[in-house]
Amino acid sequence: MRIAQATSARRVAEVLAGKSLAYAEGETDAVVRDLTSGTLRHLGTLRAVIVQLAPRGVADPLLEALLAVGLYQLQHTRAATHAIVDQAVAAARNLGFERAAGFVNAALRRFLRERDVLLATARRDPEGRWSHPRWWIDHLRAQYGDAADGILEVGAMHPPMALRVNRRRIEPEAYRRLLAEQAIEWIDLPPDTLLLPKPVPVRRLPGFAEGLVSVQDAGAQWAARLLAPADGMRVLDACAAPGGKAAHLLELADVQLTALDADARRLESAQRNFDRLGLTARCIAADARRPDAWWDGQRFDRILLDAPCSGSGIVRRHPDARWLRRPTDLAGFAAAQGALLDALWPLLGAGGTLLYVTCSVFSEENSGVISAFLARHADVRPMPLEGFPAADGRLLPTAAHDGFFYALLGKNDAHSP
Ligand SMILES: C[S@@+](CC[C@H](N)C(=O)[O-])C[C@H]1O[C@@H](n2cnc3c(N)ncnc32)[C@H](O)[C@@H]1O
Repeated sequence: MRIAQATSARRVAEVLAGKSLAYAEGETDAVVRDLTSGTLRHLGTLRAVIVQLAPRGVADPLLEALLAVGLYQLQHTRAATHAIVDQAVAAARNLGFERAAGFVNAALRRFLRERDVLLATARRDPEGRWSHPRWWIDHLRAQYGDAADGILEVGAMHPPMALRVNRRRIEPEAYRRLLAEQAIEWIDLPPDTLLLPKPVPVRRLPGFAEGLVSVQDAGAQWAARLLAPADGMRVLDACAAPGGKAAHLLELADVQLTALDADARRLESAQRNFDRLGLTARCIAADARRPDAWWDGQRFDRILLDAPCSGSGIVRRHPDARWLRRPTDLAGFAAAQGALLDALWPLLGAGGTLLYVTCSVFSEENSGVISAFLARHADVRPMPLEGFPAADGRLLPTAAHDGFFYALLGKNDAHSP
């Protein structure tokens, strides 16, 4: 545990210095992963406790991160408290804070004695209460009023695990029986998602390697349904990697799918997904904003634009994101999203539809981008989202699914007014 604490403290300190956790995606040590993610999810509260334990500040950001990891363990894990404290002291020495080991010991023991008061005081401050940066909290409040609290609350939860059954390989009812045989519980989430109340490692899912099922958030499963592909259509997924939504499209209909992504390595993982599921797509590593380099000139019937975004609807899956983003990033994302829409719109045939998606809850990246796009183009018709729970396209994150925004845009044919 000592090494895990020290490694997690390094990771947390790096995030606070501006480095994304993405480089650690291949982290094989489950303890390091859980400690790092958990500490980042609760970092606002933990820091507001540390301010009380060390009113003059903690000299080194790495030492502060180690304290945060120790406090997270004391508050949110079931390890024995004396072991957590002893190991944190040892980890402090291990990280070169020989003289601060006594302080770590005293601070963590004081937390155990005065926990209720320290936490109550921490939670009086918005960052301490919600564990998001202050600008983020204020921004959500300005856009959502009281509903902001629900969005922030979700950010502290463990992400849900949802499944999508590959109907090309097995009927959902038959897959439910396989889950039951393995004693894996599920909840049916309409229209056809299986939600696992207790997540399991992917390798435990029956038939995963054989392509019977995929792990995909329930909110993300709306993309293919809303785009409503039909046999024979030409479909473009312009930001396809790692291929979750593209695979769903291919499971729903026999379409000719072009799966494009600017990131060649991520696109390889999309190809692996298609192979596992027995699906075929034309994968192209290219920039969607430069169709001259990859488009054959034949228009598409459907386009999916799952645009790069702040990820503010999926913060519990990427607990570093909230601490890395800056308020000024939103304008940059909105500009890139608008540029992608402008570049892709001419590729859509008359009478076709484009589905715009983000996993963000910030309106700058959602309704803001769509309104500006509508103002720039005369041949766009916003279309209703059939069966979707929110008419305005805003699917707010809950315990059961992540947060998404959807806008379905129809292209008027040449004869429309
Ligand atoms: C939200 S992710 C897509 C997730 C994917 N649709 C799925 O369901 O698995 C956004 C993707 O856009 C890609 N991307 C960003 N800018 C791009 C561009 N200019 N052209 C093509 N792809 C781009 C990123 O590499 C990233 O894989």
